[in-house]
Amino acid sequence: MMNVTDFVLKGHVFYSKSLNEIACVADGYVVCLEGISAGVYADLPDEYSELPIYDFDDRLIIPGLVDLHTHAPQFAIRGLGTDLELLDWLKEQVFAEEAKFADAGYAEKAYSLFADELKRSATTRACVYGTIHVEATEILMQLLDDSGVCCMAGKVNTDRNAPNYLCEADAAISAEATRKWLHDTAGRFRNVSPIITPRFIPSCSDPLMDELSKIQKKCGVAVQSHLSENPDEIEWVRQLCPDTGNYAGAYAKHGLLGKGCPTIMAHCVYSTDEEMDILKENGVFVAHCPQSNTNLSSGIAPVRKFLDRGIHVGLGSDIAGGTSLPIFRAMTDAIQSSKLYWRMVDKEASPLSTSEAFYMATKGGGAFFGKVGSFEPGYAFDAVVLDDSSLDHPQPLSLPERLDRAIYLHDELQICCKYADGRRC
Ligand code: GUN
Ligand code: FE
Repeated sequence: MMNVTDFVLKGHVFYSKSLNEIACVADGYVVCLEGISAGVYADLPDEYSELPIYDFDDRLIIPGLVDLHTHAPQFAIRGLGTDLELLDWLKEQVFAEEAKFADAGYAEKAYSLFADELKRSATTRACVYGTIHVEATEILMQLLDDSGVCCMAGKVNTDRNAPNYLCEADAAISAEATRKWLHDTAGRFRNVSPIITPRFIPSCSDPLMDELSKIQKKCGVAVQSHLSENPDEIEWVRQLCPDTGNYAGAYAKHGLLGKGCPTIMAHCVYSTDEEMDILKENGVFVAHCPQSNTNLSSGIAPVRKFLDRGIHVGLGSDIAGGTSLPIFRAMTDAIQSSKLYWRMVDKEASPLSTSEAFYMATKGGGAFFGKVGSFEPGYAFDAVVLDDSSLDHPQPLSLPERLDRAIYLHDELQICCKYADGRRC
């Protein structure tokens, strides 16, 4: 039976088949049935001939992009304090800004700016940090829900090593606020679900991590945090957790690192072979945030090693460590920093290709949400239609060339429309 949510998009369709192969169907048809892709076709099969066709003519159709790591409350401080490294930047820029979200009026204004920009972007899925404040985080979730972008959003937990104005009084109070928030928001949103968000090891005590683990085991929601981003941070974790061997172990000992607990760890710039083995074994997703890692002089993550080991990798904007919300920018930054890493650091670590960056931005990160990030049959229907007609060229370009240019010159082209989970947004 035909459903109002069933339709067909027509245009030049691209999607990742694997890390190294982008499928391209010229003048193709991508079919959406009840929010799920029914595949891409060069000729529309008869069984779909009754469906409405939205003809995008010479435009490019790609899967929606996935942002695995971003901080909504830091949107207003993009570009501020980037002469600093992580720990000083948190102290001098981030904490003071995040404290303002105790005021619901400020949260509404600041989060609206973030949600509007996310809506305008090619992103259809995002994992988003809020602050420690429950009311502000619920405001954020409502605004994200209204944007139509499918998000996981987290109330941040912090009970140590933060200024009083941004520190929850103790582990029990932080955990109780988290329970209340999960209870209040259960089933409230169509596009947004909660994600447990201990900021990072230095700001969460052992008792708090144990509480969060109990909550996670009970409700099964995912977890996001930061891992091995900066040398001073890693040394600090070594002092705080002398027994755990490596930084990942400090999450794992509380049961907050993969296995039954779907987990995203941002950065992993300094992950050792041992830490990478733990990430792989536990099925952890790495959120690679190359622009942030450059802005905060953190370093270059060894993404080639992650991919060679079969670790899940997606991309993150990491606002405001990163200054650009578009995941197209994360794709080109990932490629460029991998080229420098190969040339300057490790000749074994071949640079990332455009195909690999496209994969990480779609299917790679999308896998955290389930079957997301491709048009292969059975995937959630997340799509973006791009108009590259403003990118004049003296000669016609092939479709793969046009996709390459669209990625690098993304801010010179138009996003015509996008769909997340089968709905236009
Ligand atoms: N580590 C702990 N908190 C943060 C944050 O807000 N941004 C980044 N980039 N790293 C962090
Ligand atoms: Fe971050």
